[in-house]
Amino acid sequence: MSKWVIGVIGGSGLYDVDGFEDVDTMRIETPWGDPSDELTTGRIGDVHFVFLPRHGRGHRLTPTHVPYRANIDALKRAGCTDVLSISACGSLRERYAPGDFVMVDQFIDRTISREKSFFGPGMVAHVSMADPVCERLSQLAGDAAEKAGVTVHRSGTYLAMEGPQFSSRAESFLYRQWECDVIGMTNMPEAKLAREAELPYATMAMVTDYDCWRDATEAVSVANVLEIMQSNTAAAKKALTELAKLLSGVPRTNSPQAIETCLDYALITAPDARDANL
Ligand code: ADE
Repeated sequence: MSKWVIGVIGGSGLYDVDGFEDVDTMRIETPWGDPSDELTTGRIGDVHFVFLPRHGRGHRLTPTHVPYRANIDALKRAGCTDVLSISACGSLRERYAPGDFVMVDQFIDRTISREKSFFGPGMVAHVSMADPVCERLSQLAGDAAEKAGVTVHRSGTYLAMEGPQFSSRAESFLYRQWECDVIGMTNMPEAKLAREAELPYATMAMVTDYDCWRDATEAVSVANVLEIMQSNTAAAKKALTELAKLLSGVPRTNSPQAIETCLDYALITAPDARDANL
């Protein structure tokens, strides 16, 4: 039976996980440098997890300095079949309230200072990002969060900004005009790299604040993000346990979007030129 190995990238506030059996840690080196921290492996029943805190334990790495390529590569080398990103975000919509989770299904990438591809001179590939999220994983994780008692929104467009400063009000209004629903600093290029690594990826975005577009609330600050983060983090941990229950006994098959073979159609460098690059 093909087993599930869920890579979990924990964002701000989520630096460890509860309830794993057979817990172990491993350090993985990659050609892209070291990942953000050591990986924690474990299982809940027959579902395996590999946990990686995106900012490192102690929150040492800014969104710009997270080693996104090393992180995705390390999860791939650790045998992950799927990657679930858990991230704090601001809300750009009245109806997405602090404490809610949003299963993001689209991204706008406004990051400007990050390595965004495993490919480069000598080997060129263009993967499709039309549907950047694995619908199956997103559905399952959303169901799990609901079972954990969270209000879950099943779609949303995530504006990825460079940071580390929060947005100006003019930017926040602009992103609302672009019909973005949530804003964060880390899901890009993570989602792009996961696709290049043929890893089904989904994002559970935990709303911490209303950014700075809403008259009725004060502008986002670290203080109000931290205030809600504790309950969001507890809910995310419960959701992982519920996810394991949903997956338990279910053999893993390839994602309906065939993400595991997406490079078959993406490499554009001619085969003879590829050999020359080896
Ligand atoms: N993470 C949490 N809240 C955020 C916000 N308002 N903007 C960007 N990233 C965030």
